[in-house]
Amino acid sequence: MDKQLYMVSLGPGDSELVTLKALKALQQCDAICIPTKSPDKSFTKSLTHTIVTRLMEEHGFTKPLLPIYTPMHFKVEDWQYQVDRLYQGFEQYESLSFVTLGDSAVYSTVYYLLDLIQAQRPSLYANTEVIAGVTSFSQASAKVKKPLCVGDSRFEIIPLLDKAVPTTTIYMRPKIGMDTDKITHSGSLYSFENMNYQGEQITPHKIPKVTKYMTLFIDFFQKDT
Ligand SMILES: C[S@@+](CC[C@H](N)C(=O)[O-])C[C@H]1O[C@@H](n2cnc3c(N)ncnc32)[C@H](O)[C@@H]1O
Repeated sequence: MDKQLYMVSLGPGDSELVTLKALKALQQCDAICIPTKSPDKSFTKSLTHTIVTRLMEEHGFTKPLLPIYTPMHFKVEDWQYQVDRLYQGFEQYESLSFVTLGDSAVYSTVYYLLDLIQAQRPSLYANTEVIAGVTSFSQASAKVKKPLCVGDSRFEIIPLLDKAVPTTTIYMRPKIGMDTDKITHSGSLYSFENMNYQGEQITPHKIPKVTKYMTLFIDFFQKDT
């Protein structure tokens, strides 16, 4: 049987903000891979470990926990080490979850690991499911009851780095019938229509005309090659 990997977003630290889909993945998999910044692979500094153990207590299940040393040095050899630990886990288990804080779409290790897995084990990559989560800034907005954007406003996420960085742009709230030729893009643009609803369509380019209110576009930043 093919191996199954779940990349599970755990949300911003409150176990009640873990999605049902994330919880089900943790309950269904054979073992859970937990990143830790401790070289001795203890979980004393691991925030994800705290969330996972709370979930196991609250929902009455247990799973083997596999520590994955994650030093956050942004080096390929560190990501390769983490991916190798996942491959080792698959020698013993059929399905694994790898957990991450917030949402995996935002500054998460998940996509560094997935790039390596895609190149090295394409069939595992095809069997990997990424599970979305609540971001830290969604939670921050809710805590102070202030919207990130409403009406005609927009919001930006800016990494606090002293250099220019490539940008992902999300376009929302199109008018039905509008031509999309005004939407410029510099990376790879995808169109998402009726996501999770009847008639879901995800197109890896710009659709020429908007036909549904539930349409958004993402111009994903251009990756270094
Ligand atoms: C590596 S990024 C991960 C972001 C995460 N994937 C998300 O969806 O929010 C870590 C940054 O997210 C922000 N962050 C994450 N959790 C936070 C929290 N509980 N409180 C405040 N900021 C947080 C901080 O700016 C931190 O430096």
